[in-house]
Amino acid sequence: MAKLAPSILSCDFSRLREELLLAREGGAEIIHIDVMDGHFVPNLTFGPLMVEAVRKILPEAILDVHLMISNPRSYIGDFAQAGADMLSFHVEAVQDFDAVIHEIENRALKPGVALCPGTPLEMIDHVLERLAFVLLLTVNPGFGGQKFLAGMEKKIAVLRRKIREKGLSTDIEIDGGVNEKNIAFLASQGASIIVAGSLIFSHKEEIKERVRRLSEMIQVF
Ligand code: DX5
Ligand code: ZN
Repeated sequence: MAKLAPSILSCDFSRLREELLLAREGGAEIIHIDVMDGHFVPNLTFGPLMVEAVRKILPEAILDVHLMISNPRSYIGDFAQAGADMLSFHVEAVQDFDAVIHEIENRALKPGVALCPGTPLEMIDHVLERLAFVLLLTVNPGFGGQKFLAGMEKKIAVLRRKIREKGLSTDIEIDGGVNEKNIAFLASQGASIIVAGSLIFSHKEEIKERVRRLSEMIQVF
């Protein structure tokens, strides 16, 4: 059963509390938090203090922290303490990502690796068994509201096949450019966690109804 993960990047931050509570009421269990450092990606967002704030607002939610930063290893402890549950970092940002996974495991968080659109799946073959999830970016990292990159649906299907062949239960998380037209198809291709930012928070329709309706569209997969 694929799950929706609303991304706070597209929230109205002056109404963070209300919007998060509405997303939760709509049935969202996972909240996606994009950490950007202005170095690995050309944008700056937030750090552990934001994770701590979201944790206070939603004590029961699964907080999924996506690190788009150059030196993820140095901050794992801070994000663990702030209340993260799932933590992913970019394989393009580190040399020894085996050690970073180890560190995330040591903090009892669910380890994930994130791959930019152009990064081949072979990069993670040797660590796949140790990952709780793989995050496939389906836009270039840095900004919400971009267009889904053509061809990425194939990458999802190939990764799903690999995971199945190895007998693993690794989640595939899709991040970027999800819209009403492609969401169900992405789930059918093997995405089990689907991040949606602008699709949820930048529309007139009520957030709660939107989360409920979009979740229903992917539940069958
Ligand atoms: C992109 C971010 C995404 C972003 C997705 O760098 O990692 O998580 O919030 O936004 P939408 O759903 O608007 O494409
Ligand atoms: Zn993200």
